Amino acid sequence: MNSLWTETISIPEREALPGDMKTEAAVIGGGLAGILTARLLSESGVRTVVLEADRIGGGQTKNTTAKITSQHGLIYDRLAEQFGMEAAEQYASAGEKAIGEYRRVIKEYGIDCHFTESSACLYSCRKGKAQEALMREAETAQALGIPAGFTTKTELPFPVTGAVCFHGQAHFHPLEFLKGAAEGLTVYENTLVLSVEGSQVRTGRGTVSAEHVVFACHYPFVNVPGYYFMRMYQERSYVLALDMEGPGRRGAFLPEGMYYGVDRDGLSLRSAAGLLLLGGEGHRTGENREGGRYGKLLERAKALWPDCRERFRWSAQDCMTLDGLPYIGRFSAKTPNWYVATGFQKWGMTNSMAAAMVIRDAIIGKENPDAAVFSPERFTPAASAKNFVSGGLHSVRDLAREVFMPPRAMTEELPCGHGGVVEFEGKKAGVYKEENGELHVVSVRCPHMGCQLEWNPDEKSWDCPCHGSRFDYTGKRIDNPAQEGIK
Ligand code: FES
Repeated sequence: MNSLWTETISIPEREALPGDMKTEAAVIGGGLAGILTARLLSESGVRTVVLEADRIGGGQTKNTTAKITSQHGLIYDRLAEQFGMEAAEQYASAGEKAIGEYRRVIKEYGIDCHFTESSACLYSCRKGKAQEALMREAETAQALGIPAGFTTKTELPFPVTGAVCFHGQAHFHPLEFLKGAAEGLTVYENTLVLSVEGSQVRTGRGTVSAEHVVFACHYPFVNVPGYYFMRMYQERSYVLALDMEGPGRRGAFLPEGMYYGVDRDGLSLRSAAGLLLLGGEGHRTGENREGGRYGKLLERAKALWPDCRERFRWSAQDCMTLDGLPYIGRFSAKTPNWYVATGFQKWGMTNSMAAAMVIRDAIIGKENPDAAVFSPERFTPAASAKNFVSGGLHSVRDLAREVFMPPRAMTEELPCGHGGVVEFEGKKAGVYKEENGELHVVSVRCPHMGCQLEWNPDEKSWDCPCHGSRFDYTGKRIDNPAQEGIK
């Protein structure tokens, strides 16, 4: 399903890698993190090429809600408590600098991308612990020098028990920005990287020999070294773009600020192009067997604004780390010339820019005072333990399910327009039955590391609960870390 962003811009296609070449830096991935890294490296005089498997911005960048904020959920109070005030300061500083760097790049390159200054607010509708957490977050943010304040009054059309608002934040059209930021860079599209060994980046179209290799491809596809598959899973969330305007529209509402609900059923809201972007209904990738997420989101919208109309719907996929912080910096101790930018949680805009700044500085040998908090080589047992256990259990359970569990139904029982893990010709298979009864049969074994895939009825895709790879109903890969489609 196409997002508002993809429907309102076209980006000219670029050529694929023409053959073997040498360069100083090779960036794998032409999303926001990859393009920004290449942009900053080029500004520093580092010869850089970007290798994109599909089209630039064709991954998660096109599905974001594009909020440029240093407010990343309830993070600062937790960071100060679990990692110490210095780490919280580094994280806050990196986020604020990232917003400033967006301003600079947009101005310097004259990028017309609907960049709009705005405040960003976390809110809760519950009393008690959530309200207290918001108050503590406001205090910690202020102590870190962020212009923030606690309030119980917002422009939202429902009562809140509290909100923390950060000022001087922004939002934009992510693909308009990406298009402008990529101007003049050497970017090869339709060039899938198959493997990386030392300084050799092998693609289906030739090999790039690079002194520095940057993995900015959402989820790193190299399993060892790095072991990112043991440290991250993915989450999906859903967005509706709602038309609130028009004569007689009851309850029409377009916020000036950006909002993110911290309650379990919290909604995300911002306006764009005269539409309200309403997000929510998140879940771990591969755990949406029942479906109906868009429907639930629309029901909630209609309860608030009975006459709103859906114009676009899409979903986003985010890499979640064990301790809630991104991995930005050296890929592993064994690979001194490799760098990684991943695990941005739900905050891809500022973390992409923070990653570009940290990795640029590492490559040109400049000290970056904010880099330590993002180091992929950090060890944070207290902050990671709970998530490590639950993540590990997921992987063990999903790997075991492939081997031991029988199919859930027979192919004949599958209604038209539905998919599922069923028995097909005596074997377990993933089957999608089109409205006309035509069957699409695939293996339910994820090509990444073998977990059993699950059908996602909202997206008509096969999703992996272990690390979040996704495939369309014909088996074509949509999201990594898997590098190939399913059979
Ligand atoms: Fe890792 Fe599927 S994404 S096993």
